Amino acid sequence: MAHPNGGRGGPERAIVAGLITRDGSRTVAEEHLEELAKLVEAAGGAVSAAVLAKRQAPDPAMYVGKGKAAEIAELARRHEATLVVFDDDLSPAQIRNLEKVIEIKVIDRSALILDIFARRARSRESRTQVELAQLKYLLPRLTRQWSHLSRQAGGIGTRGVGETQLEIDRRMIRTRISRLDEELTKIERNRATQRKGRRSAFTVALVGYTNAGKSTLFNQLTRGSAEAVDKLFATLDARLHKSHFDAPRETVIIDTVGFIRKLPHHLVASFRSTMEEAVAADLVLHVIDGSHPQSDEQREVGEEVLHELGILADRVIEVYNKADRFAVGVGEQKKSRAVAVSALTGQGCDRLIAMIRERELAEGEVVRLQIPASESRILARLHELAQIEHQEADQDLLRIVAWIPDYARHQFEAFELPDLGGRIDDSGRKSSTEEAGVAGRST
Ligand code: GTP
Repeated sequence: MAHPNGGRGGPERAIVAGLITRDGSRTVAEEHLEELAKLVEAAGGAVSAAVLAKRQAPDPAMYVGKGKAAEIAELARRHEATLVVFDDDLSPAQIRNLEKVIEIKVIDRSALILDIFARRARSRESRTQVELAQLKYLLPRLTRQWSHLSRQAGGIGTRGVGETQLEIDRRMIRTRISRLDEELTKIERNRATQRKGRRSAFTVALVGYTNAGKSTLFNQLTRGSAEAVDKLFATLDARLHKSHFDAPRETVIIDTVGFIRKLPHHLVASFRSTMEEAVAADLVLHVIDGSHPQSDEQREVGEEVLHELGILADRVIEVYNKADRFAVGVGEQKKSRAVAVSALTGQGCDRLIAMIRERELAEGEVVRLQIPASESRILARLHELAQIEHQEADQDLLRIVAWIPDYARHQFEAFELPDLGGRIDDSGRKSSTEEAGVAGRST
């Protein structure tokens, strides 16, 4: 295969292009274009130039219009660019028309994001998801244009799909799509079984805008060794790790793929199964880069995705990260569902851990039990699932005070003594059930 860069080596040189329409502001368009440039870098390319066109509405034939397309073509020649990336989704016809004028490869935001996903995918599941999403994306765009461009296959926008696949016909692609669909269903079924196996653990999922600091926080909470790199979408696969901090149940922390502004909806759907980890989690930490000038907008993107996944706000803690870079307001410190931390320095992490623990404790109760010493299986299960507060032997009976998670309570019901309903607070002491509301105690 010829090098995607026409044999010159080095990263692919790209031009990024966007549109300011009647109802859009220049600042927002510039921010989006800046983010697009970062995405190109995350895909291993280098940005040579950026172009913003101003139009009442996108041109149905060429998105930026014929004149601007010719300008981009000239710019591409001057910079010896090999690729133009447009900030919005383009129709197959727009891509075809633009390629005719510009004479180098033209891709849109979706293709670029898919490319980054293809680079980052580690597990069989995410690789399958990426290939599936890429093929579905390519299918309507598969034209003769692609085969004339196939010498560039393997470059940005086509990685993950084997080069030769650009030349095989649609029928074969359809067959491959249905095979991948089947494979994915199987993988998802397996994943669901694995999740069931983790039921005894308390699961905490980290979600948030790309680059918000999820991996760094994951490391801080797990003291693991996952690397944090200043790149968009460093993590694609959900990663699991058991935390080190003291809690009645084992706590599993899950890192998930980062969100992004303008992440096309069909892509959100493709990665739904990766996000299923967050859907199934007991608690979701929505990590927000509090030091980012657009942190509000990024938070909203996150909230939208959480809403789409059906994750309700009462299962979410907002974690304002990078607190080493911004002043934490008193209001923020007081909010029961928000906390400011620095994943890098560890500042505020104790409070976050206390909040996680508190949520966990709220999902169980302290009960008094009386279990015959001969019930060794029950006793073993109790030790596995509960937190024993106190235990004394009275001849052949064991009297135990223990915190038991709600989901396992029924297993010990037969041995429960009446009268000691209640939950324990975050110091491990019992409190009455009425006082146990999480929001009420977390200031
Ligand atoms: P994606 O994989 O793209 O979703 O990113 P992520 O959310 O996992 O972000 P990651 O942990 O990779 O961090 C992104 C960048 O932010 C890295 O350069 C980190 O070093 C930096 N970072 C993370 N947390 C903090 C923090 O508390 N303070 C500062 N100053 N930088 C941080």
